[in-house]
Parts: sequence; structure tokens; C-alpha cells
Amino acid sequence: MARILPNFLYLCVIVFAFLSALMIIDSFHECSSAELDATRELLKKYSHQVQFVKNERKTLIEKLETQRSVDGTKHNSWLPELPVIYLITPTHSRAEQKADITRMSHTLKLVPNIHWIVIEDSEQKSDMVSRLLEQTGLNYTHLNVLTPQKFKMASKDPNWLKPRGVLQRNAGLEWLRNHKNSPAKKGVLYFADDDNTYSLQIFEEMRFTQKASVWPVGLVGYLRYERPIVEKGQVVGWFTAWKPDRPFAIDMAGFAVNLQLVLKYPKAGFSNEVRRGYQESTFLSGLQLTLSDLEPKANMCSEVLVWHTRTEKSSMENEAKLMKKFGKASNPNIEV
Ligand code: UGA
Ligand code: MN
Repeated sequence: MARILPNFLYLCVIVFAFLSALMIIDSFHECSSAELDATRELLKKYSHQVQFVKNERKTLIEKLETQRSVDGTKHNSWLPELPVIYLITPTHSRAEQKADITRMSHTLKLVPNIHWIVIEDSEQKSDMVSRLLEQTGLNYTHLNVLTPQKFKMASKDPNWLKPRGVLQRNAGLEWLRNHKNSPAKKGVLYFADDDNTYSLQIFEEMRFTQKASVWPVGLVGYLRYERPIVEKGQVVGWFTAWKPDRPFAIDMAGFAVNLQLVLKYPKAGFSNEVRRGYQESTFLSGLQLTLSDLEPKANMCSEVLVWHTRTEKSSMENEAKLMKKFGKASNPNIEV
């Protein structure tokens, strides 16, 4: 008690001194009415500015909402008069798969009248691809077929050694041919790999294909681009460094065909047995096409609107290092 009392008095002295100091400062700074008026004016001005910013924010949010709903109608729009673009996309499990499919789906969301046929190279449909496709809100068909081990490439093989996506594209073709009633009569088919880069314009170039449309592909064949050579509006050959004498020396991403032609020639397809680089030629020849049937698009094949980009294989070497050092690496439950 004896110690608490002096402490209490000490505290009282401090509080008293503090209050006195405040009163003295305040007495030095008595506001004149002119100062008060000026402060009031300032406050008024600021509150106007705050209101202005609030209104601006509201208008911007409203604009954004309208924009969203416009885009929304665009994504989901199905214009009955417009030919449908059927896309056949083989896909296989790898670390970068979700990233590639996500990017591709976001492009497709901006294209009207799309039907996306996605075929997994797997024994079973994966949860990840199933979920992703469902979330896109796109029209899609989800299939799967496993490439037998003898046709699979080993991780050290050069990327040209064996063809990829062969059975998957055939499964897509089979679906189209067996669902004659569901595919729209007016349609076009495009083989769109999951790692390429597509401009929106390429879809409008191909949409009204009569028989087969062709156009350049960027970043392919160890060149800046490959393209059909066009003279007087006709395709007469191929600009490519590798086997230009192939009947159709063109990448899979460089052509689209009319759906009716695909239904008319039910045997046209792909094979793991054909010579390297002849997948495209085998399919297009199977549709009984010749050079004179080809419709040159993309400004007479002078513009690159699709790129054969290849996603870099990501290294995971630090996973093993972390595991070795701490007995624990990244959380396997986090989907990448
Ligand atoms: C090039 C061509 O652009 C492809 O159209 C062609 O299928 C391929 O070569 C080939 O040699 O067969 P590239 O980038 O080298 O393309 O091949 P990937 O992108 O690795 O594979 C083409 C498509 O098949 C992709 O959509 C990919 O996901 C899929 N794929 C790949 C499988 O379905 N299974 C696999 O084991 C590998
Ligand atoms: Mn690719």
C-alpha cells in the first residue's frame, strides 16, 4: 500500500501536467472565425472530391458489369445460322497440361459456335480434365483412348520420332461420324493441339470452308513459318524446308475441312504406321482432296494467325532436393 500510493500520486502529477500542457497549447492556438470558415470550406471541398471518386467508382463498376454480360452472351452465344467449328484436341497427362488446356479454353470462350472434342490419351478420363471442361461453359465432348506403349515416345526420344495424338484424333473422327444427327450440317473440322497459340481470327477464316481451307503456321518446321504457296489465288505448293514434295506438306494446325466431306469419306483418318510427316497428307488424301481444292485463307496465306508454340518442359529437380533435405516437398494435394 505504501508503495502504491506514491505511484498513484506520481501518475496524478503526470496526468495533471499533461492536461495543463494541452490547455496551454490550445490557448496559444485559438481559432479565429476566419480560420474556422477556411477549414469548413476545405472540408466541404474534400467531401465533394470523395463523393466524386465514389461516383466514378460506381460508374466504372456498372460499366464493367455491362461489359461482362456482353462478353457472357458472346461466350455462350449459339447463332443457328453460323457454321459450327468442331475442334479435335488430343491431350496427354504432363505437368503443364492444366496450364495449356486452361489457356486454350480461354481462347475458345471468345469464339461463337464451337464444339470442342477433347480426347485424353489415357485409360480413363481424368478428374482434372473433366472438371476443367465442365468449368469452361463451352460445348464439349470428352473422350479417351490410350496410345499403346509401343507407339509412345520415351522421354529422351527426339520429338519427331513417333507421331502423337493419332488414336485420339481417330476417336474424335469416329465420334463425329457416329453422331451424324448431333453435328450440325453446316460445320467445319479443325485439329487443334492443346499447346498451340490461336488467334481469334483463324476461327473466322476457317468457318465457311467449302472443302478444305489452308493457311500459314508460325514457329514450325525449324522455320519462322511454313505456308502454302499461292499463285493467282490457287495453292501450287508448299514453303517448308522438310520434304516439300509431300502431297500436303502442312502442319496439323494449318488446315480445316468441311464436315460433310468428313462424313462422305468415312475411312479418312490417321495411322501410327504411316511414314513420318505423312499424317496430314494421309488424312487429306483420304478425303480425295487435291491442291486445286484448297481454299487459301489468311490473306492468300500471307498472314500467320496460328503458332505451333510448344510449352517448355518444367524442371522439378528441387522437389527431390527438398525431399532429401527435409523429408518433405510440395503438397501433392495442390493441383498444378
Ligand atoms: C507436331 C504437330 O504439330 C502435331 O500435330 C503432331 O501430332 C505431332 O508433331 C506429331 O509428331 O505427331 P508437337 O508439338 O511436336 O506437334 O506434338 P505435341 O504437341 O507434343 O503433340 C500433339 C498433340 O497430341 C497434343 O495435343 C498433345 O497433347 C497430344 N499428345 C501428345 C497425346 O495425345 N499423347 C502423347 O503421348 C503426346
Ligand atoms: Mn505441340
